[in-house]
Amino acid sequence: MEHTDGMLRADALKDKVILITGGGTGLGRSMGEYFLSLGAKLAICGRREEVLKKAAAEMEEQFGGSVFFHACDVRQYDQVEALHEAVLAKYGQIDVLLNNAAGNFISPTERLSPGAFDAVIDIVLKGTKNCTLAVGKHWIEKEQKQKVVLNIVTTYAQTGSAFVVPSAMAKAGVLAMTRSLAVEWAKYGIRFNAIAPGPFPTKGAWSRLLPGDIGEKLKVENQVPLRRAGERQELSNLAAYLVSDFAHYMNGEVVTIDGGEWLQGAGQMNFLEAVTPEMWDWIGQATRKKD
Ligand code: HXC
Ligand code: NAP
Repeated sequence: MEHTDGMLRADALKDKVILITGGGTGLGRSMGEYFLSLGAKLAICGRREEVLKKAAAEMEEQFGGSVFFHACDVRQYDQVEALHEAVLAKYGQIDVLLNNAAGNFISPTERLSPGAFDAVIDIVLKGTKNCTLAVGKHWIEKEQKQKVVLNIVTTYAQTGSAFVVPSAMAKAGVLAMTRSLAVEWAKYGIRFNAIAPGPFPTKGAWSRLLPGDIGEKLKVENQVPLRRAGERQELSNLAAYLVSDFAHYMNGEVVTIDGGEWLQGAGQMNFLEAVTPEMWDWIGQATRKKD
């Protein structure tokens, strides 16, 4: 058994219809591929139709099953409603909404225009709100139960982070929505959870957060106690569990999967990792009782 193996039984998501925003690229696509292999039917959206079309064809060819795609800018509520109707026309139902679409880039905050703030906040916070409202209201109105919303946030949704302030603000809002609706909509049979991933290399994230060879120069893996980035299957295993019926009692939780990264940044004495064995010998002597 490897940590890169699929974890759940082959029929774990059989016939569940899963809508993944941003499902044509990166982590959204990887999670979708694993869901397909567990028997789910997929709907994916993003702004670029050609990217979705190619992804859907490749995913169906490699994993079988059905991948419906529909171009949609999640910032626009009318487009989200059209997406929702198109998925219902295709499959008749939606069982899981995976809010994964995001926008982000690094910048000192004083360099950001109001429009730059809006670009990120509108995709992440408003987009997640739009999709959750469109799909959730329908579930409630039709009295459909056993439904799931899974939101992809970040570890800095809880800690905040310099240089990605619009994203941190928006992801914190998504986390607040996750916990709020986990309580408010539980009576309608809707569960809400979130995943906070650490670094998982994708073209979308790396080109915006670690452009060029910044990642190598700054040795990003040293930020992680396990000294490696995440493998996509590790995230997919967690996501598949959380959207499956096995997680029926999981509600309002945010699960961090980051190799310990945020804690390494948090512990006051963690900088002592740099101390050599020889220095520890000296420290051991220097800190013992002298008399
Ligand atoms: C400063 C920037 C900027 C940058 C854009 N803007 N990029 N400002 N630095 N690098 C400003 C523009 O000047 C403009 O301001 C406003 O933002 C909107 O820019 P557009 O390019 O018109 O926006 P749009 O086409 O809507 O694109 C949105 C985007 C883009 C967020 C800027 O990067 C995008 O489409 N991203 C989607 C995919 C993505 O980001 N994936 C990574 C997710 S990773 P004005 O003033 O002219 O309006 C992630 C990881 C989290 O979330 C945690 C990792 C550990
Ligand atoms: P990605 O490949 O860039 O994924 C972002 C997706 O969102 C793209 O498919 C993009 O498609 C879509 N999208 C962006 N704006 C949209 C809009 N307005 N409407 C609809 N779709 C939109 O990056 P990723 O790394 O896989 O990120 C996936 C999720 O994981 C994000 O929520 C991100 O914050 C989170 N995350 C990633 C990491 C990491 O290390 N990779 C760490 C923590 C959290 P279009 O451009 O075609 O619209």
